[in-house]
Amino acid sequence: MNIEEFFDQVLTVRMTPERDALDIIDQTLLPGTIRRIELRTKEEIWEAIKKLRVRGAPAIGVSAAYGLALLASGVKSDDYDGFYKEVKEYKDYLASSRPTAVNLFWALNRMERTLIDSKDKPVAEIKEILFAEADKIREEDVQISRNIGEIGFKILKDLKKEGEPVGIETHCNAGTLATAKYGTATAPMYIALEKGWKGSDMHVYCDETRPLLQGARLTAFELHQSGITTTVQCDNMASLLQSQGKVQVIFVGCDRVAKNGDAANKIGTSLLAICAKHYGIPFYVCAPSSTIDLETPTGKEIPIEMRDAEEVTEMWYKERMSPEGVDVFNPAFDVVDHDLITGIITEKGLCTAPFDEAFERLGIGK
Ligand code: MRU
Repeated sequence: MNIEEFFDQVLTVRMTPERDALDIIDQTLLPGTIRRIELRTKEEIWEAIKKLRVRGAPAIGVSAAYGLALLASGVKSDDYDGFYKEVKEYKDYLASSRPTAVNLFWALNRMERTLIDSKDKPVAEIKEILFAEADKIREEDVQISRNIGEIGFKILKDLKKEGEPVGIETHCNAGTLATAKYGTATAPMYIALEKGWKGSDMHVYCDETRPLLQGARLTAFELHQSGITTTVQCDNMASLLQSQGKVQVIFVGCDRVAKNGDAANKIGTSLLAICAKHYGIPFYVCAPSSTIDLETPTGKEIPIEMRDAEEVTEMWYKERMSPEGVDVFNPAFDVVDHDLITGIITEKGLCTAPFDEAFERLGIGK
């Protein structure tokens, strides 16, 4: 399978050709079953985001944008105020699905702005404009990840030694499944393949990523499918791996970057960053500029999603593996302190500390 066929096979989200449903790959079934499902109602779209059938910050944003366009297309009212009111209710409902990834709110706000800017047009035309805006968000995401990949690829090239693979560690899934095409943390790897590197020129260590196993199930699936040398290890094996010199660089995605550069990503990412600092391994956060939230001053203000206890105690086991009634701590994200981050790779350029100044220099948030 060539790389383009591979991207088609795992296409995260699109509209059906008739534009009557959102068509997603159900990520809860991967890697065992590759099944696409169609979402039509607001409840189905909300549930798919909440239950991580579609997940990863940019993919959540794209899904919410298409979801809102789809729901708007079914609104009966022909008068703008009535139409706006119903679409706004859908927007608020979809926004309540997950709290941490800022791309969800960013995409929904962008759709609402488009709706407001089209105020003077007939409702039938506005419905078309909303679909077009969602298409734009999806297409831009492809280009954004490509740019991130180009910058990350330069880092890989500098680290590459003749006859040896570059050891890369990543956490969770910030891959093609989490975006519209290249992923963010995986974009440097896919760009390397496009530029003629062999899969064996890289060795990617995927943290398993407890409790929902996005690394073991999703990142390992997509990298292995694309021919890149891939190893899975449990999250608590990272320190040994790093101490043995197997990792030259770490690329992770993120769900929200605060103004000071603190970055929220899948639970366990901060542990990885602390460890990397100890072993002197460069730690890069790959972030579309839509993930940078200048309204949030530091990581302390980023809301952290708490999830059901069953994800820890039952989901992956034949029988419940913790005593009935025991308390469970299950946050979905943690925050990497900006001091631990070597660089934040955005589509506009590489940001290094002080991050707020770098964001300003690159025009992020303008
Ligand atoms: O809970 P998830 O699976 O949505 O968490 C995903 C992550 O933490 C990703 O690293 C992040 O969203 C970036 S995806 C390009």
